Amino acid sequence: MTARATATIRSQRLNALPPYLFVEIDRAKRAKIASGADVIDLGVGDPDRPTPSFIIDALAEAARDPANHRYPPSIGTPGFRESAARFMKRRFGVDADPDRHICQCIGSKDGIAHLPLAVVDPGDVVLAPRPGYPVYQSGAAFAGAEVFDLRLAADTGWTPRLQDVPATIASRAKLIWANYPNNPTAACVDVAFFERYIAFADRHGIIAASDLAYSEVWFDQPPPSMWQADNADLDTTLGIEFHSLSKAFNMTGWRCAFAVGHPEVISALAAIKGNCDSGQFGAIQHAGAVALDHYDHPDVVAMRDVYRQRRDVVVPGLREFGCAVENPRAGFFVWARCPPGPDGEPMDSMAFAARALEEADVVLVPGAGFGPDAATFFRIALTVEVDRLAEAMQRLKTIDFRR
Ligand SMILES: Cc1ncc(COP(=O)(O)O)c(C=O)c1O
Repeated sequence: MTARATATIRSQRLNALPPYLFVEIDRAKRAKIASGADVIDLGVGDPDRPTPSFIIDALAEAARDPANHRYPPSIGTPGFRESAARFMKRRFGVDADPDRHICQCIGSKDGIAHLPLAVVDPGDVVLAPRPGYPVYQSGAAFAGAEVFDLRLAADTGWTPRLQDVPATIASRAKLIWANYPNNPTAACVDVAFFERYIAFADRHGIIAASDLAYSEVWFDQPPPSMWQADNADLDTTLGIEFHSLSKAFNMTGWRCAFAVGHPEVISALAAIKGNCDSGQFGAIQHAGAVALDHYDHPDVVAMRDVYRQRRDVVVPGLREFGCAVENPRAGFFVWARCPPGPDGEPMDSMAFAARALEEADVVLVPGAGFGPDAATFFRIALTVEVDRLAEAMQRLKTIDFRR
């Protein structure tokens, strides 16, 4: 193939994605591992424990049922959607109709990435949090939308200043994203936030999207759904919320999630999905339904205790070497300010992450990759056993970051 041909293989929309900012840290991590170093990777937000066995048993049984070997409906099997609706009722007190308000997704990433194709036209604006899960941006970009950064910063508890969105942007916006419990900042909100969020979206005719991927990993109080807001109504509010089984039930590899929302938004998403995929394997949906019906199973509750124990090692450990950090109330991320550097100010996160890897063999996610407001913060995932977390804290403590 000629050089000219290879240069144009990738579409403009793919080339327009922002560069991957962690390339250098990734390279250094691989080099460390290759040199035989005992690297502790606190970067990966993927549950380390296995899926509870009652869910695996349900899959094994359903995999033998020939009915599950055929194409499922791409909006999800009736059984899965009924369980999702039951979950919404039992967990949040929200009445959802499995036929009109629910769509199964092949992981919530599938729904989040495809939603803009369903509801956004080229030139429309999508309001997406920054720092934030990158798929809000890439999904919007693939649909030809213009992304407006909703800047999240420490002084507002990592929530957006909706009142600061310029009127000229709000009038062109079609979709807005919120994600609480938040990745990467671990921030949580109460129902009152969702009331303001929906009021803003309603006022400007914007579809309100909520990403609740971490709703079942919590320490004190279960996080709310957007649909619990007093001004939210599944039949009249243009909104959609994504729920994922990935983190709740240690099922990231299974790819099972659902969206619950306004019937027209749900049917638009289902129409796009109907043209891109043919639904998730019926046996996985069956096992997913069993999981949702047992979201309060002792094995699920026990995972929360595991994350709590890990949190309670990491947060005091970080404070010991000068990181300002709040105890996360939900999710499995700890989001902390970098320790003071030579000038006594919090270090730049790229420099801090580089030294943590170089001198302590510990991988962290630098906030700088998430945008300017996060440049002196870093993220740790609690997806490593307690003794390894303690070891990582011990190693970090011995480094003189002021040097
Ligand atoms: C905030 C957030 N939303 C959604 C997802 C996607 O999860 P899944 O596609 O496994 O449901 C992730 C995964 O890390 C996430 O961090």
